[in-house]
Amino acid sequence: MLREKLGFVGAGALAAGLIRGILQAGLVPAGNIMVTNRGNGERLRRLAAETGVVPCSKAELAGAADVVFLAMKPQDLPGAVAELAGLLGPGQRVISLAAGVSLAFLEARLPGRTLLRAMPNTSCRVGASATAVALGKGAGTAEAELARCLFAAVGRVVLVPEEQMDAVTGLSGSGPAYVYLLTEALTAAGVGQGLDAAVARALAVQTVWGAGKMLVETGEAPEILRRQVTSPGGTTMAGVGALEEGGFQRLVDEAVRRAAVRSRELGVGV
Ligand SMILES: NC(=O)c1ccc[n+]([C@@H]2O[C@H](COP(=O)([O-])OP(=O)(O)OC[C@H]3O[C@@H](n4cnc5c(N)ncnc54)[C@H](OP(=O)(O)O)[C@@H]3O)[C@@H](O)[C@H]2O)c1
Repeated sequence: MLREKLGFVGAGALAAGLIRGILQAGLVPAGNIMVTNRGNGERLRRLAAETGVVPCSKAELAGAADVVFLAMKPQDLPGAVAELAGLLGPGQRVISLAAGVSLAFLEARLPGRTLLRAMPNTSCRVGASATAVALGKGAGTAEAELARCLFAAVGRVVLVPEEQMDAVTGLSGSGPAYVYLLTEALTAAGVGQGLDAAVARALAVQTVWGAGKMLVETGEAPEILRRQVTSPGGTTMAGVGALEEGGFQRLVDEAVRRAAVRSRELGVGV
């Protein structure tokens, strides 16, 4: 169990997912997690009632939390940081979760604080996030370990240099939606082949989940697993061939590239 007190500025979907994961992993007792938001008292009360975390003001949070998470939309971050700047003590650790907002932006507004950026994804809700962490000014081995420990409570963690965060956002930040889209497409295609919609959806969902579980649990490379189920002249080869001929890799390249570009634009706009 960690001794650090955690403070969440923002009580939305991501903060709630992270908090639930951290509590489930038994990393920090609920009484050591403080949460504040902009003004939605009902949301804060609900989260506190469900999880036992402590609702508070920004001043209370800044005065007590060892680690402060910035868990608001990028466009709301400058306002929140302006309020926090005079409240946070020197050396306090701040982890920004806002897509696209650079460490340089934070360093200029929160000088003297130890800064990190993290990009989890929505699967943190079920403890299966892919999270990338970048270290900023003042952050060293101890902070890297702390971040690894915190985000491991909600999935898998990698450390990357900050300049790769937009690429991370394009791949794993937005990635769950690509997989949901594939699941929708598989379902529709099954219906197109005469399956009942509910049956097609059940088969598509289980197929995506099973393939993910195979990747994680066997540790095999995806191309090995794919080759194992693709016999020459067989049905899978026919299906995979159609995806390749249709430019599957090119489409995925473009999806990740556009999302990364959008992440960069959002950061610039802050
Ligand atoms: N959702 C995800 O899976 C995911 C994944 C990766 C990264 N992210 C990043 O995480 C951040 C939060 O996403 P989300 O989905 O959790 O957003 P959300 O559900 O819209 O929640 C945002 C929270 O920020 C609070 N807030 C806004 N301005 C504030 C201020 N000035 N002071 C204090 N609190 C403030 C809001 O307060 P009220 O409750 O009062 O409205 C709300 O609780 C975003 O930057 C997003 O890019 C999200």
